[in-house]
Amino acid sequence: MTQLTPFKEDLRGFVERLRQTGELIDLHQAVDIRHIATLVDQSDKAILFHRVIGYDMPVLSGIVRTQKRAVMSVGCETFREIEDKLQYGIDHPIAATRVSTSSTEEIIWQGDEVDLFKLPIPMSSIYDGGPMITAGVVIARDPEYGINTGVYRFIVKEKNLTGIDIVTPNNMRMFAQRAFEAGRPCPISISIGTHPMEVLGAGFRAPIGVDEMGIAGGIRGCSVALGQCKTIDMPYIADSEIVLEAEILPIGWTQPEGRFGEFTGLMGGLHWNPNVRIKAIMMRKNPMFYFLHMPWENTWLAAPTRYQAIRRALKTAGVQVKDINVTLGGRAFWHAVISIKKQAGEGKNALLAALSVMDLKHIVVVDDDIDVFNPTEVEWAIATRVQGDKDVMIIPGARAKPLDPSLYITPGQVPTGAKVGIDATIGEGIPKERFERISYAYADRAKIADYCAGKADPELVTQKNTDQELADQIIALIEISPVYYSEIAEKFSQYSFVTVAKTFGELHAQGILWQDPRGKMCLKNSKFAAKQPG
Ligand SMILES: Cc1cc2nc3c(=O)[nH]c(=O)nc-3n(C[C@H](O)[C@H](O)[C@H](O)COP(=O)(O)O)c2cc1C
Repeated sequence: MTQLTPFKEDLRGFVERLRQTGELIDLHQAVDIRHIATLVDQSDKAILFHRVIGYDMPVLSGIVRTQKRAVMSVGCETFREIEDKLQYGIDHPIAATRVSTSSTEEIIWQGDEVDLFKLPIPMSSIYDGGPMITAGVVIARDPEYGINTGVYRFIVKEKNLTGIDIVTPNNMRMFAQRAFEAGRPCPISISIGTHPMEVLGAGFRAPIGVDEMGIAGGIRGCSVALGQCKTIDMPYIADSEIVLEAEILPIGWTQPEGRFGEFTGLMGGLHWNPNVRIKAIMMRKNPMFYFLHMPWENTWLAAPTRYQAIRRALKTAGVQVKDINVTLGGRAFWHAVISIKKQAGEGKNALLAALSVMDLKHIVVVDDDIDVFNPTEVEWAIATRVQGDKDVMIIPGARAKPLDPSLYITPGQVPTGAKVGIDATIGEGIPKERFERISYAYADRAKIADYCAGKADPELVTQKNTDQELADQIIALIEISPVYYSEIAEKFSQYSFVTVAKTFGELHAQGILWQDPRGKMCLKNSKFAAKQPG
């Protein structure tokens, strides 16, 4: 990928692009905020709710809820291009720049003015523990490790108090844990209503010490601008619709929070999380509240990060990848099917590399003749190329996502889980000939469309008796080397098929016909004739 043209669009620009392309519904009538989540769930378009009863701010939702809109959001033409851009951004990060102010600072609430209940924060799923901030890009700092950015959800508890959902072992959790152990609050800025580009960058699980906003800048081809919070020494994403300045309180994982509707498509259980004190709220004039709709908006932003990380891991492992499918049944988090141009043993190497990526749980590796996007083909490879005792790899005790509902829980412990790999490539030492696919003679010439349009084949005369001249020619042919029956039928296509078949019948009756080990026709007493095993 060559250097990217700078992509400077903000959220408002993207919303306008959605509107212009018919991907956004502007709803101007009054809507009860309790209805928003289900309305978005039923809509194939993004929605801007202009009049939300009880609030003087519109709610935007569903903007990247389809693959098409996720592709649009990153200024790409294809889904694969997002992965390439992400990879480019990782390889060519552009450090964020600091600005002295931004449009986010047009309105600032501090102290007693802070009131989350003035923001139209909807409930997401049916059993959530309250209104939920789903699109907050969180910037945190650790004295030793520096800046970290990620997206974590917050359930509103009081006008200036929320929880933060950091049950998963990630960098944010580690920063909060270290602050807790040092007995100090962990300041964070929460930028809501950024462009999806920043959500994509923040959702990328960068190694500790790598600035995800540098990656977002790399994807954009220009730096992400950061403003300065007013009540904490933290940057925020400039020109976000809304920013919360906050501190994770040093109380540990002691407060019940949830439930949360998860990327798994399931209602997660009750979590134990720290609380977060909101110290200030900043916003643009006429702000929109961006309510990211779970789970698909999360899925479409997370999927490219999985593709990128798998491709990179396999490259590092020296395995040549043809295609990857991070499947939707695995919610774009847990499953991948990977086709490789295999060298001996690489089915297993590919599994080891891919299983080390993020939270991937089940991987199938296939040869490059299998279409990873066709579930029947993949299952067929598993059916025909796998021996369970040799080709299924189970690695117990690996890092897992606590949200996995199938995990066994030991109270007080972060659970670990099993990773499973299926090597559905053709095994070493197995003859490749066993995997010749069924195909049909004349597929290149006999086309159904032509026959439906009236094409007829020439009517050849069927001879009454066996044709001795034909019999001699067949013998002369197969004497030299074995030939498939269909090739002989084609070679003598000046005769009708019945004539050829009858002649073969006569030769068979004379006891001179046999077949070679591949099934080709030959003479019985020739060196080519197959011997019955055993
Ligand atoms: C829309 C969205 C919502 C998310 N919600 C959460 C969440 O509530 N808790 C969490 O731990 N991770 C959540 N994530 C995933 C993290 O943002 C992601 O794993 C990130 O890479 C973690 O970064 P870190 O390791 O730098 O902390 C969410 C991601 C997205 C895109």
